[in-house]
Amino acid sequence: MASAFVVLLLLSVIFQAIVAQHQSNQISLGSSLSPTRDPISWGSPSGHFKFGFYKKGSGYSIGIWLQTSPKITIVWTANRDDPPVSSNATLTLTRDGKLMLRTGQGPEKTIVKTLESASFASMVDSGNFVLFNNRSDIIWSSFDFPTDTILGGQNLYSGSELFSSVSKTNHSTGQYRLKMQSDGNLVLYPINTIDQYVDAYWATDSDGQEQHHLFLNYTGELLLLNKTMATIRSFPSDSSYDERLNSSTIYLATVGDDGIFRLFAHYFVTESRAYNTSTELWSQPDNQCQVKSFCGLNGYCTLDDKLSVCRCIPGTDFVDPNQQFSGCQRNFTEESCKDVKNGKAVYNIAPMEKITWDDYPYIKENMSQEDCRKSCLEDCNCDAALYNSGYCTKHKLPLKSAKRVDDNINGQSSIAYFKMGTRAIKSDNGSSTLVPSPLKPQTLVRVTSKKAVILILLVTIGFISCSCVFLAVSGFFIFKYRVVEYKWLLETGNFGSADELTLRPFSYSELKRATNGFKEGLGRGSFGAVYKGVLYNGEKPVAVKRLEKMMSDRSEREFHAEMLVIGRTHHKNLVRLLGYCSEDSKRLLVYEYMSNGSLADLLFHSETSPDWNERVKIALDVARGILYLHDECEAPIIHCDIKPQNILIDDFWTARISDFGLAKLLMPDQTRTFTLVRGTRGYMAPEWSKNTPISVKADVYSYGVVLLEIVCCRRNMEIDPSKLEETILINWVYKCFINRELNKLVRGQEVDKKTFENMVKVGLWCVQDEPALRPSMKSVVMMLEGITDVSIPPCPSSSSG
Ligand SMILES: *[C@@H]1O[C@H](CO)[C@@H](O)[C@H](O)[C@H]1NC(C)=O
Ligand SMILES: *[C@@H]1O[C@H](CO)[C@@H](O)[C@H](O)[C@H]1NC(C)=O
Ligand SMILES: *[C@@H]1O[C@H](CO)[C@@H](O)[C@H](O)[C@H]1NC(C)=O
Ligand SMILES: *[C@@H]1O[C@H](CO)[C@@H](O)[C@H](O)[C@H]1NC(C)=O
Ligand SMILES: *[C@@H]1O[C@H](CO)[C@@H](O)[C@H](O)[C@H]1NC(C)=O
Ligand SMILES: *[C@@H]1O[C@H](CO)[C@@H](O)[C@H](O)[C@H]1NC(C)=O
Ligand SMILES: *[C@@H]1O[C@H](CO)[C@@H](O)[C@H](O)[C@H]1NC(C)=O
Ligand SMILES: *[C@@H]1O[C@H](CO)[C@@H](O)[C@H](O)[C@H]1NC(C)=O
Ligand SMILES: *[C@@H]1O[C@H](CO)[C@@H](O)[C@H](O)[C@H]1NC(C)=O
Ligand SMILES: *[C@@H]1O[C@H](CO)[C@@H](O)[C@H](O)[C@H]1NC(C)=O
Repeated sequence: MASAFVVLLLLSVIFQAIVAQHQSNQISLGSSLSPTRDPISWGSPSGHFKFGFYKKGSGYSIGIWLQTSPKITIVWTANRDDPPVSSNATLTLTRDGKLMLRTGQGPEKTIVKTLESASFASMVDSGNFVLFNNRSDIIWSSFDFPTDTILGGQNLYSGSELFSSVSKTNHSTGQYRLKMQSDGNLVLYPINTIDQYVDAYWATDSDGQEQHHLFLNYTGELLLLNKTMATIRSFPSDSSYDERLNSSTIYLATVGDDGIFRLFAHYFVTESRAYNTSTELWSQPDNQCQVKSFCGLNGYCTLDDKLSVCRCIPGTDFVDPNQQFSGCQRNFTEESCKDVKNGKAVYNIAPMEKITWDDYPYIKENMSQEDCRKSCLEDCNCDAALYNSGYCTKHKLPLKSAKRVDDNINGQSSIAYFKMGTRAIKSDNGSSTLVPSPLKPQTLVRVTSKKAVILILLVTIGFISCSCVFLAVSGFFIFKYRVVEYKWLLETGNFGSADELTLRPFSYSELKRATNGFKEGLGRGSFGAVYKGVLYNGEKPVAVKRLEKMMSDRSEREFHAEMLVIGRTHHKNLVRLLGYCSEDSKRLLVYEYMSNGSLADLLFHSETSPDWNERVKIALDVARGILYLHDECEAPIIHCDIKPQNILIDDFWTARISDFGLAKLLMPDQTRTFTLVRGTRGYMAPEWSKNTPISVKADVYSYGVVLLEIVCCRRNMEIDPSKLEETILINWVYKCFINRELNKLVRGQEVDKKTFENMVKVGLWCVQDEPALRPSMKSVVMMLEGITDVSIPPCPSSSSG
């Protein structure tokens, strides 16, 4: 059967070659075109099609057009996304058989790439521009590289696609694509989507085991054919005879700039000149509102008296009020989460019915309608929520696919909630349309400035007096140091065992000296700032962490007890605590100094990302460190804040976890719900926002996010408007995984395919919304080491309950 296809293809090539020789003006080597001086184009024998320069913006593009009037109809453009060329450009079929463009600036460019050099070219009556070699074989034809249009006699082969144009006057790549999928389905999608059912807005649903291709035949029928040329579908399916159509009618099928796929007939009243007499024979989808993302981000389409209009979801306004298809943006300022917590009503929620979307949520929970509304209002990450039959999905803006629904889907009622702010965003020209707020802006300013003055005074006075006291006392302390240390050991009644003695108590003044007055900051950890210091006469570099005020709320005795627990941990993948200081309300910790920075620096800030083997090793190091904390030390320690910033790299390129054990100071009973400790956004397991007990599985979730970051070498959230489906790493990884497109995640780096897939699967298991589904760290380590197999993970957010 395949051979039959090849024979047919050969026949058609030969036929085309014959047609070309007999019905075309042969373009010989050395011919050239210019946008302003004749000749500006090479025409087909009938004169209907032209190849040459046409006007684009203030310059020119090279393409093929149908000679309609008053305006020509562009059917193909060479290098459509290149900027227009100036009027002094020339296009030449050179003596050595290449089609070259000279623009005045820069080097010459080949317009089409061929393996052989051409002997002549031809503009064929069908609208195909063809290059031939010296044996008159076709070596290149524009029909093989369609842009947004196919003409009568042209195919759209399996795996290829048409891309719409930006507008009627700009034929660069636009917003929609028609793909002849290799599964046999012909589908319309917005661009920047992967070929996934949810993104499609029209399809022939002809998918199955065999490949198809689309063919527009010479009498204007769009046919889906299989390899043996059997017709699977044809459009229009009920073609009624139109007596104006005859053998000189030209048919073309185009994906319009509005995303609609249309079939046109152009017919000619006189043989010599073409008039604008085109008629639309067929189009899909039927109405503009069915075209996905037609209204842009955060917009939705609605039919107003059969006319489709775009509207913005509540809380947003048009980016450009004159161009309502360009999408919508927030019209209020984002307040910090703290203000919301303090009970200031800076947000409210607008409910809306008959609207829905299929964007991926960041969380899906089983809760009541009222809880859904409240939960979104209180969740800093939530911009919009959708409640549908017992489930609440929460989303961050932008929404890509908001749409009106006239009836409730499957008879189930859904309701959408949108977060709205009360403070307007400042407009570009500085005038702010402020919504009345209880405080007038002027008074607000004055109050803060008064407060600021008082604050500065207090801080200054405080600082001066502290310094005096410090100077007086420090001399005494330096002298008395040993006595103090001895006393402390007596008080806690813990002296004698080797464990305690390995953890050394330091005085504040000693640490201040070691860090040269807390001069060289190394960054801010979750619990306070970290400074570089040296001990033992400059021989041992250390990192000193000053814990924030809230840590000092715990009594000194509890603090000592906790330090002892941390001091007893010994593992090569944990950063070692050397000692600590607890004086008055000051709490400081002294750690080994890690010379190679954090994993975050390594993955996100360095110029070259670490190589694959290095990344695999780091992933295992971190997993072993967490396994030790969970299972192998005296009492399980939940880290609560696993993230790349907390994973440090030592002199030997071993990854080591820092900041462990500190969460416990804020949360003495780790199994109970608590609010003081919060992980870092993006790494936090869903149960943190759900008032359910936190277990070691919360760390497994965070580890999963870190693992995916290590594997993909990117952050868990990256906002690039042109790649929105890649924004949230977990969703993106899962999409690529189920679509068997893991190579999209590799992004050209050298990886071991098998290990890569294995690590992706482990990562997806770890980030399951349902804690019970996540593996223990023990199984994670075993899966990473290849001791146990990894089964196919379910969708991370599907099992939420
Ligand atoms: C055509 O559209 C593209 C993409 O929107 C834009 O970058 C380009 O400047 C436009 N060209 C002209 C001539 O308007
Ligand atoms: C043909 O004419 C109609 C109006 O008479 C106009 O809207 C349309 O854009 C024209 N088409 C072309 C290809 O010039
Ligand atoms: C072509 O035109 C551009 C601007 O229109 C000018 O900068 C350039 O010098 C011209 N080149 C030649 C060869 O005339
Ligand atoms: C055709 O071109 C090839 C090189 O492209 C050359 O080897 C061959 O001799 C040419 N044949 C004729 C008949 O000119
Ligand atoms: C085009 O396709 C239709 C439907 O299959 C068929 O009736 C017609 O004969 C075809 N025309 C040509 C020229 O093959
Ligand atoms: C094409 O479709 C026809 C009719 O459905 C079928 O008989 C034939 O086997 C198909 N060809 C291939 C290659 O599948
Ligand atoms: C096609 O139809 C048009 C208008 O009906 C007529 O003017 C033209 O001569 C016809 N062409 C042919 C080749 O029959
Ligand atoms: C949601 O949870 C409640 C109990 O918490 C349960 O009764 C109900 O069946 C759940 N709903 C769904 C759709 O799973
Ligand atoms: C934002 O737009 C909505 C309509 O979408 C409007 O109701 C609201 O008042 C606007 N908010 C501000 C702060 O301008
Ligand atoms: C600038 O402010 C004026 C009124 O102060 C308003 O009419 C105009 O629309 C504003 N322009 C922009 C771009 O926001």
